[in-house]
Amino acid sequence: MDGNGRWAQRRGYPRYFGHVRGTSRVKNVVREASRLGVKALTLYAFSTENWSRPDEELSVLWRLLKKYLIREVDELARENVRLNVIGEVERLDPEVRKVLFAAIDRLKNNTGLELTFALSYGSRRELTLAAQRFAEDCVSGIRHSGELTERLMSQYLWTSILGELSEVDLVIRTSGEKRISNFLLWQAAYAEFYFTDLCWPDFGPDDLKQAVEEYSTRERRFGGVRSPATSLPLILKADGHGNTNDVDRA
Ligand code: IPE
Ligand code: MG
Repeated sequence: MDGNGRWAQRRGYPRYFGHVRGTSRVKNVVREASRLGVKALTLYAFSTENWSRPDEELSVLWRLLKKYLIREVDELARENVRLNVIGEVERLDPEVRKVLFAAIDRLKNNTGLELTFALSYGSRRELTLAAQRFAEDCVSGIRHSGELTERLMSQYLWTSILGELSEVDLVIRTSGEKRISNFLLWQAAYAEFYFTDLCWPDFGPDDLKQAVEEYSTRERRFGGVRSPATSLPLILKADGHGNTNDVDRA
């Protein structure tokens, strides 16, 4: 959810104004995600790097998050949304944690959209902690190094709470930036990317729908080949050593 600050500054408002408007956008986008049948939606609300912002901006951001959770929890309950958090939750202010965990608890038996807030989240941090925890388990004899597979590695990540849904299908980035910024590096290994110039405060339900529609036209091969049913002339990419790998179709 990028571009709150620029959205405000372009209109001559202080940056926090963009956060206010941006937060008010979350509700309708979440509802539309449910309506579209999206199973999991993860909102990158605050990165490990965002801690370097001025204190006044940080306090606005956390206040807005608390307000959102308090105000929207009933509506989320009605919409059958389950709430999760990923990130260094222990770094959050105790008051934020209290409100957050109360909301998570309230929604824990729901079976609809898995809504996850990434708070004080950084993918490198997540991977580093996973490696650390795995090493500790090896030292204590619960695990041995040879048993580490990709599947087991996933279980050491914060996103393990999402099970199979931790695998990302689509990453949407707003505000015209085209980078991943330490977001779900492992989980988005085969994700499709969708970039829009709209700043987050201008991103609405119709824009989510458009992104999902575009996603549905993408062909995902996961490094494999297209199924023979849609047979088209083959293009074999040679690697210069007489081998053809990476089979593609025109
Ligand atoms: C996204 O908007 C909100 C957060 C990262 C918390 P920004 O605050 O990053 O807005 P820009 O990128 O400065 O415009
Ligand atoms: Mg930004």
